[in-house]
Amino acid sequence: MNQLFTHEGIRRTVFGPGCSAKLAEEVKLLAGSRALVVIDPHVLAAGVAGPALEALGQAKIKYETYSAITREPEPAEADEAARLGREIKAQVVVGIGGGSALDLAKAASALIANEGSAVDYVGLDLLKKAGPPVICLPTTAGTGSEVTFTAVFTRRADKFKGGINGRLLYPHTAMLDPKLTVTCPPYITAIVGMDALTHAMEAYTSRAATPVSDLNALAAIELIGDNLRQAVAHGENLQAREGMLLGSYLAGLALAQAGVGAVHAMAYPLGAFFDIPHGEANATLLPFVLRHNLIACPDRFASMAYALAELPEDLTTREAAEACVAEVMELSLDIGIPQSLNELKVPQNQVPAMAAKAMTVARPIANNPRKVDAGDLENIYREAFEAE
Ligand SMILES: [Fe+2]
Repeated sequence: MNQLFTHEGIRRTVFGPGCSAKLAEEVKLLAGSRALVVIDPHVLAAGVAGPALEALGQAKIKYETYSAITREPEPAEADEAARLGREIKAQVVVGIGGGSALDLAKAASALIANEGSAVDYVGLDLLKKAGPPVICLPTTAGTGSEVTFTAVFTRRADKFKGGINGRLLYPHTAMLDPKLTVTCPPYITAIVGMDALTHAMEAYTSRAATPVSDLNALAAIELIGDNLRQAVAHGENLQAREGMLLGSYLAGLALAQAGVGAVHAMAYPLGAFFDIPHGEANATLLPFVLRHNLIACPDRFASMAYALAELPEDLTTREAAEACVAEVMELSLDIGIPQSLNELKVPQNQVPAMAAKAMTVARPIANNPRKVDAGDLENIYREAFEAE
């Protein structure tokens, strides 16, 4: 572990059932009287954000909603949301939804302050100015976007996938209301929950892990192990939803410091080439990459195993490390995650192209605890095809 580290991130967190009704207070704390609200169209239609939006109206905060959001958003959507934000002179941007809506809110804020299009800022630290402060209200427990400095885009026409990354993209405030997540359907709950577990496990085993990210990652693994099955089995179990929302938030904090690894790198081409959702791709690949990485840091795998599940105390480090992979596989099976890339209808002849593309996702590849090259990634993809 590298003991030299920097810790930074979002400014403010508000957590608890019903807290989204206090959105207007948070906007006013930021001296905002005009807000752009970037909201997932399904969330808007379902009405779960009603109390938050009503609070804005009652507090006489003028707001416009932008909700033309696709599943994995296109850069043009951020440009359009920013145009609306500039038009109404938004002083605050609010994101309500899953990772796509939150990423769009972050990018829209950045593009209100920085001229040009989202594609001009794909890369690291290319933004010149901070945009209006962003308040994120996640409706899935998952992506961790409410605490990270990334906004990812997919342009289907030319299979482009890329992200705006940088310190100026951190949201100001995360408002975490478990009640906003109770209508999330079981399969989405499962795949985004596994994405959160992937964030925690990749951060904990990252070569850039810090003592702070370690604490958040292990706490996240424990919360996800305790609550994900129940959140999938019965969405209205508020205690399970609360545990998952806290778990995914802590996993997001860990990933914001320590980064992610080969699972995320290998999920990237599945999204870019075949339009497979981020969470589904990560969830499917996680056990296979864990198995490959195990020998790099078995002690860390053992710690993750004890955080994730109840295990006998007398296991050797190697036994506990292997139990970590087995427990992830059992969880994945229990909650209906695809067990192979065949199930996702990925063409197997694309493995070399997928591996080459994954190797270009430089930071996650560098952070992976076991050094990997294109040949290793091809082997892991093949194992993920052969599993049944
Ligand atoms: Fe992720």
